[in-house]
Amino acid sequence: MPTAPLPTPAVAPSDPAAQWDEVLAAFGPDPNPPPPAPEPEVPAAVEEAGGPLAGARAALERLSTWVPIRALARRHRHRVVDHLLALDPRDRYLRFGYAPSDEQIRNYVLGIDFSRDEVLGVFNRRLQLVALAHLAYGLPMPGEPARRMAEFGVSVLPQSRGRGLGRRLFDAAALHARNRGIDTLFIHALSENRPMLRIATAAGATVERDGSESAAWLRLPPDTVGSQVEQALERHLGELDFQFKRQARVLGDFVDSVAEVKAHFDASGRAAKE
Ligand SMILES: CC(C)(COP(=O)(O)OP(=O)(O)OC[C@H]1O[C@@H](n2cnc3c(N)ncnc32)[C@H](O)[C@@H]1OP(=O)(O)O)[C@@H](O)C(=O)NCCC(=O)NCCS
Repeated sequence: MPTAPLPTPAVAPSDPAAQWDEVLAAFGPDPNPPPPAPEPEVPAAVEEAGGPLAGARAALERLSTWVPIRALARRHRHRVVDHLLALDPRDRYLRFGYAPSDEQIRNYVLGIDFSRDEVLGVFNRRLQLVALAHLAYGLPMPGEPARRMAEFGVSVLPQSRGRGLGRRLFDAAALHARNRGIDTLFIHALSENRPMLRIATAAGATVERDGSESAAWLRLPPDTVGSQVEQALERHLGELDFQFKRQARVLGDFVDSVAEVKAHFDASGRAAKE
């Protein structure tokens, strides 16, 4: 007769603590159960915006529409001036709320404090500054707590519009402001400026219209390790992209001059034969 295997005892008979538990189980459930084990801690970096999956999805989305954005410094002032001077009176009006003269634009750029504010730009392959954003951090008044609001202004050259550069600069500016401890991004726009108001409302800003003018406020969440890393990565990639374009341009100029010299020699060779 085959012998059925003996059931494995739930606990080893030599374990006195387990035996004691079995004896106590006969008297019903424990009226003072031990406190539940604490939940494992979620790192702050993955807590934002609906957990790690939502964060990863948003990062992937941003990557698929990635545009190299470069933080500009004092030495880029002439490029900033050239960009703004290329705007026609109507665009200048939309950007500043009035149509500044060339002189007023130069003075505006001279007045930008690059050590306090942030100026972000997008360059095309010819290293022309095609999109520009100025994130102005207010100076705290004496005796007042530090201001936690920054004002955003942006312009994209007409030939580069409609490709999402305005929106990307807005997102980058919001990230930078957030990482500087700013909790509100302010945008002043004319009510007729539909693209600008569209960018602001799509990001979740509250828009208040007052006749021909509108003001938009976007509340920013506090920074996290993730938002700091994202900014550092963008800065690095933006710089890399600019250097790459510069090298490509130097190489392009070199190839052009070689072609020019060759054409010159070909022409003089032909002339000599004739
Ligand atoms: C406002 C401005 C920066 C937008 O730049 P852009 O690179 O063309 O903007 P984007 O391509 O990111 O488009 C932004 C949104 O506006 C929408 N949009 C573009 N043109 C539009 C129009 N004429 N009417 C309504 N919506 C429009 C786009 O569809 C997009 O929305 P979506 O992403 O939901 O499709 C650009 O038009 C500009 O430089 N204007 C002159 C200066 C100015 O107005 N500055 C803003 C004041 S601070």
